Amino acid sequence: MATPKDTEPLPAALDVTSIVLKRYVDDGPVPPDAFGVELSTLAADGLAEGEALCEVLYLSVDPYMRPLMRLNKAHYAPSFTPGKPLAGSGVALVRVSKAEGFAAGDVIVGRPLPWSSYAVLGADGLAAARKVPRELLGKVPLSYFVGTLGMPGLTAYSSLKRIAEPRRGETAFVSAAAGAVGQVAGQLLKRAYGCRVVGSAGSPEKVELLLRLGFDAAFNHKELPPAEALAKHCPDGVDVYFDNVGAETLEAVLDAANVGCRIVACGMISQYDLPAEKRYGVKNLFNVIGKQIKMQGFIVTTLAAGMEEDFLRDTAAMVADGRVKVVEDVTEGLENIGRAFADMMAGKNMGKAVVKVAAHDPFPAPAVAPRSRPPCAAPSPQPPHGTARRQRAAPPAAAPAAAAAAAASLSLPALLHAAGVFVLCCAGAAFLIAAIPALLAAARAAHRAEAVLRALEAEIPDTAASMRLSGLELSDCLSELGALGSDLTGGLRASARMVGAAESGLRAAPGAIAGAVVPAVARTEAKARGTVEGLLLERAASAPDLLPQVLRGTATAVKRARIGAAAAGFVAAAVGAGAAARGALDARAMQVARASVAAAGAAAVEGDGPERAVVAPRRRGGAGPGGGGGAEARPPAGDPMQRRQPPGGPQQQAAASAAAEQQRRQAKQATAEQQQRGQQQGPLRHDAPPPPQPPLSGPSLNGHVPKNGRGGGGAA
Ligand SMILES: NC(=O)c1ccc[n+]([C@@H]2O[C@H](COP(=O)([O-])OP(=O)(O)OC[C@H]3O[C@@H](n4cnc5c(N)ncnc54)[C@H](OP(=O)(O)O)[C@@H]3O)[C@@H](O)[C@H]2O)c1
Repeated sequence: MATPKDTEPLPAALDVTSIVLKRYVDDGPVPPDAFGVELSTLAADGLAEGEALCEVLYLSVDPYMRPLMRLNKAHYAPSFTPGKPLAGSGVALVRVSKAEGFAAGDVIVGRPLPWSSYAVLGADGLAAARKVPRELLGKVPLSYFVGTLGMPGLTAYSSLKRIAEPRRGETAFVSAAAGAVGQVAGQLLKRAYGCRVVGSAGSPEKVELLLRLGFDAAFNHKELPPAEALAKHCPDGVDVYFDNVGAETLEAVLDAANVGCRIVACGMISQYDLPAEKRYGVKNLFNVIGKQIKMQGFIVTTLAAGMEEDFLRDTAAMVADGRVKVVEDVTEGLENIGRAFADMMAGKNMGKAVVKVAAHDPFPAPAVAPRSRPPCAAPSPQPPHGTARRQRAAPPAAAPAAAAAAAASLSLPALLHAAGVFVLCCAGAAFLIAAIPALLAAARAAHRAEAVLRALEAEIPDTAASMRLSGLELSDCLSELGALGSDLTGGLRASARMVGAAESGLRAAPGAIAGAVVPAVARTEAKARGTVEGLLLERAASAPDLLPQVLRGTATAVKRARIGAAAAGFVAAAVGAGAAARGALDARAMQVARASVAAAGAAAVEGDGPERAVVAPRRRGGAGPGGGGGAEARPPAGDPMQRRQPPGGPQQQAAASAAAEQQRRQAKQATAEQQQRGQQQGPLRHDAPPPPQPPLSGPSLNGHVPKNGRGGGGAA
């Protein structure tokens, strides 16, 4: 377990330095002289029960403090009180504790901590404080707990999760992207959500830093108006906007937003220095409606409630494996905190603005790469503005890059000195051996060697710096690759898990069908059977009452069926007999007709010569006297109903009629005789000759009255 280092026992009376707000500043930037230093003394052993004495290690300067530096009753937090220490989030070491749950050596993140070198926290202060997990002490720089692993990081983490809900492949834009919240938001959007990320910042160095942090594009909002920049860098529109600045930038985003864009209204720092009447009026808010934009403001303490553990676990892991890099701007000394605040508001900070309050760090930890990295390849005469941890109070030479260069330049004179001595020794020896010409040649050689070495001396620092920068570039690339690799591995593992689950699902399917569907079907069947049986039993229970009725009904039905069947049999028999009778009559009628025709034919042949028979049309009933068809309507050949007309003139017709009349009489007589015989013999025999039928007069067998073609009456 980590233990605090360099912690001396506390004196009985502690000298405490505090920073107070001297006056409210209503309009314009807060100047550094608005802050004052106040000294006081604190009795280390004067703690009450439930209190803890804490040594302040780091303090954060944040934009939200600006509105609290004017008398602003409408703000969500109360204004600072002039003459009293300001307060904000910070990291402190518990030195003495009379509070349950807190012990000397604990490191806490206080919200708020006073801008003082020591603080006594009571029950309220300790309740709002959070202990830094022991396992992280000495592994992560403590200053991270007011930046990427503190309130600004939680702001980005929670609002992305709960408001923006970014989707892979969407375009996200972050303003003030090189700051405390912006850098975390941008990196999470890129590495955790897979968005295409564009950032804006206020200097070329910051733009360069954003590209190094992995942003896909970045622009300087002081050089390019946001509307133009968005048209250039977000050609497909904006899906997620992380707004830290408001005003013109927000207005430009509302125009560039896609339908369904989510705007995280995190802050509007461009307006904080301005009194209400001077603030920018966004003119195109109606886009929120037409584009169905979700725009939500929030306060981190409310929005992130319950997320802190997840946040710390997730973000610390991403910081540890390099997916999220940390860029800090550290100012040394509590007395410089006012300037640090004013610089941050003016955009002079590169990364999270932190003030190092205590001279020592009880849990020093190596910065997680690439914390100490210049933003640009070219060495700059300015302070190392882009070092991931910029030490504002330290001279430039103390920065790692300068230190490396100094180390390189210090080693070269020593090298030169040794080389000179060596050359002199050689020259002395040569002088002794080869005398003056050789000595001169050696001297020339020494001069040339010295020139070469001097050139080297001039070149080596730059070369070394370049090499170091290349190394850092390489380390960036490697860490990018590592992050990508772990993303890919994670993706592949997840895919493999899904495939495995699908495969085992498929394998289990038949078993599942057999094991679940078949029994379910059997259960349903059994249930249905049970229900039916139950119903039948129920009906059976009431059967005694119904049975006699049913039996009576059945007997009646059977009786009726029998009567019906008998009637049907009778009708069928009658129909059969009718048909038989009709057949017999038909046959007989045909016989008589043929005989009549034969007789008529014979008479005609006897009467006159070569007259041809004319086929008369056969007319069905309905034709009136004189009606009927002409000769053009001929019956088909072979029609059994066709009849020959008596040929010849009136005399032949009269003769034929007489012959027919005679024949009819004979037939009638024969019929009468036969009937008489039949009455004597009994029922009609099938082999007996058919009785003679009246020839062509009277109703035909079909019930029609045949008429001749001339419309005249028949032979009858
Ligand atoms: N809602 C919440 O709960 C919550 C919590 C924390 C922070 N915030 C908000 O988040 C925003 C960022 O805070 P931070 O702590 O991360 O600060 P920061 O970005 O580290 O520092 C502020 C930055 O704002 C930019 N800026 C200043 N004046 C500007 C102007 N007129 N126009 C455009 N940019 C300007 C500057 O960057 P450039 O040089 O790049 O312009 C400056 O570096 C602030 O608006 C803050 O109020 C909100």
